[in-house]
Order: sequence, then structure tokens, then C-alpha cells
Amino acid sequence: MRPTRAEVNLAHLRHNYRVLEKMFGDGKTKPAIWGVLKADAYGHGSAAVARTLERAGMPGLCVALLEEAIELRDAGIRVPILVMGGYYGPRREGLEEILARDLVPVVYDAGQIERIATLARYESEGRPVRVHLKVDTGMGRLGVTMSELDDVLDAFDGRPEVQLDGLMTHLACADGDDLGPTMEQLARFAEARGRVRARGFSPRFVHAANSAGAMRLSEARFDAVRPGVALFGVSPVPGLAPELKPVIRVRTEVVALRTVEAGEPIGYGYTWRAPRRSVIATVPMGYADGLDRKLSNRGHALVRGRRVPMVGTMSMDLTMLDMTEIPGARISDEVVFLGQQEGALGRDVITAEEIAETTGTIPWEVLTSISRRVPRFYREP
Ligand SMILES: Cc1ncc(COP(=O)(O)O)c(C=O)c1O
Repeated sequence: MRPTRAEVNLAHLRHNYRVLEKMFGDGKTKPAIWGVLKADAYGHGSAAVARTLERAGMPGLCVALLEEAIELRDAGIRVPILVMGGYYGPRREGLEEILARDLVPVVYDAGQIERIATLARYESEGRPVRVHLKVDTGMGRLGVTMSELDDVLDAFDGRPEVQLDGLMTHLACADGDDLGPTMEQLARFAEARGRVRARGFSPRFVHAANSAGAMRLSEARFDAVRPGVALFGVSPVPGLAPELKPVIRVRTEVVALRTVEAGEPIGYGYTWRAPRRSVIATVPMGYADGLDRKLSNRGHALVRGRRVPMVGTMSMDLTMLDMTEIPGARISDEVVFLGQQEGALGRDVITAEEIAETTGTIPWEVLTSISRRVPRFYREP
């Protein structure tokens, strides 16, 4: 019933995929691009995003959770899906799902390899389970440490049911000003690859790079890359790829308008008072929809192609805008909180990067915060 919705532009998603293909394919190698669709494809809706990318020829996908991979298989997605989080639950049900749905688990300790082998012995009809081994080269999060690598490799010995098909790491600082730490991680990863090969393993897929790593360093691309945010049109470092197009646009409409006199207060706590006679619009989107409450009295929205300031403290379901500079403002005027708008008064855009800058976070969080209460509409222009 509410006019609040998120429009997901699937043509822009395909465009971004092509931009990255071109960018990563210009060197000696042409890595496979495996889109990272965790957290409901960064808030864009994972089933529709996966379907679009699969049809566009994407050869594989990555998610964080087993649950996310199951959701994609249930939606009919057939390409390989890498489950990067490495947690398959305390009982065997999780690993059974991995086998039954032909998912690719990430492993980083010997126990995982033993459990997969035990299960596969009875349940995978003789087919080995292909796994990717994650090495911690400096993220300090998940992955076998360099000092434990040989012990974990021992766990593959005598267990032909588990095949070491991929070797991966994750870069901690690829979007930072200083690429030194990334080069150190890549050097450790080279050592890890050498040790893995010396033990007689030859994983088909070596991969390390997120969007920033893949976009900035050709030497981080290897056999595959794992971009997330760039597919959704956000450059992880300002200006890296101006051709990328934002995929999501969040819009609603004015549902109430009032004229207030100078000095009159607006919203909870009276944090804003009209500095002059003002036209105030109320729009049905608030912090429960994923707008950051820190935007109160600081953020903007677009109306008829022009920027208007948010005024007063944002409510759970409603936000107020100062529309005094919008001549003839009306109920049902479209209001854009994220994305582009073109109208009688001009053309402007509010990016995830801009919102992140205002609220002191990162664009990844802006995108993944748009809540389930905001229905996603898919556009194929
Ligand atoms: C292991 C791993 N690879 C790749 C990505 C994609 O990162 P980005 O969205 O910066 O491209 C993520 C996301 O954080 C990740 O956790």
C-alpha cells in the first residue's frame, strides 16, 4: 500500500558485470568472475540478481551462509555456489545440504575435512566433494593460518572423498590508501600456493580478490575474482570505475504537507525549528526501513530533481523534508532517498557513498541496511 519501494535495475547489473569483465580481461589472464551475493545480494534480492547474472553467463557465485546458498538453489540457480562462511552447523545436516545441493564448501580446519570425508564416503555415490581451502594471509578472521597450513593439508591425505579444488584468501586492505599490506598478503598467498603445490595438490581455482583487489591489482586476479559491491555499481575506492551504474534506487512519495511558521518545531525532541515560514513534507520511510537515523537534520532527498534537506529527528516510519524551495510541492510528489531523479527542477543523484560519508559508515552497510519492509521491484528497461 505504501509508495515506498526499492527499484532494482537489472540492466544496470548486467552492465556492471560487462564493465568488470572488460576491466579484468584486458591483461594476460581472464579470471572467472564469481559475484558475491551474500546478505540478499547486498540488499538487492539474491534470487533475481543471481538469475540475471547466471543468464548473463556468470560462471559461479559466492555467498557467506549455507542458508543463502540453499535459497539460491531453491530459486533454480544451477551454477556452482561457493559457501564462504565455512560454518555448516554443529550437526551433520549442514554438510548433508552441501552434498545434496551440490554446493562448494570453504574449509579451513582439519575437522571440517574429516567430517566431509566421513559423510561423503556414504552419501556422495563415489564422487569426491570439491572444497576450497581458505588461507588467512593477514585478515585475522577465517582461514587456516600459515603456521597450521601443513597440518590441515595432512587432513586431505588418505581422504580421496575430499578434493582440494580451490585455494583462496581474503584481502583486508585492498580499498585502503596504502597497498603495502595487500602486497604482503599476496606474498604470503604465493608462499601458501607454493607449499600446497609442493605437497602434490593442484587446485583448479586460486582466488583472492574482492572488488577493490581485482580492480586495482592485476596480480591479485588469479583464476577467479569475487567482486560484490562493484557489481552493484559502487566503486570500492572513489573514481576506480566511473562507468559502473548504481543498481538500486529507493523512492517513496509525499503523503502529507504542512506550512509552519518561523520558530515552529518538527518531530521528536524538537531538534529542528523552522528558520522561516516553511513547507514541510512528511514521507513514509524511516529508520525501520533502513534509513540511518544519523541522517536526521543532515541528510537529503530528491524531489522533482532537486535536493531537499531532511529536517527534525527521523521516526521509525516517517521522515520530514523541508520543501520550501520546491515551488508547488504536492502530495504524491516522488521522493528519492537513494539513486537518481530527473524532474522539472533538474537532475541529481544521491549515492550510497554520499550517505555513508554523511553517517560515518561504508556504502556496503548503506546497501545492506535497506530493510525487508521495503519491497523490491525489478526493472528490465
Ligand atoms: C570472502 C569475501 N570475498 C569477497 C567479498 C566481496 O567484497 P566486495 O563487496 O568488497 O567486492 C567479500 C565481502 O566482504 C568477502 O567476505
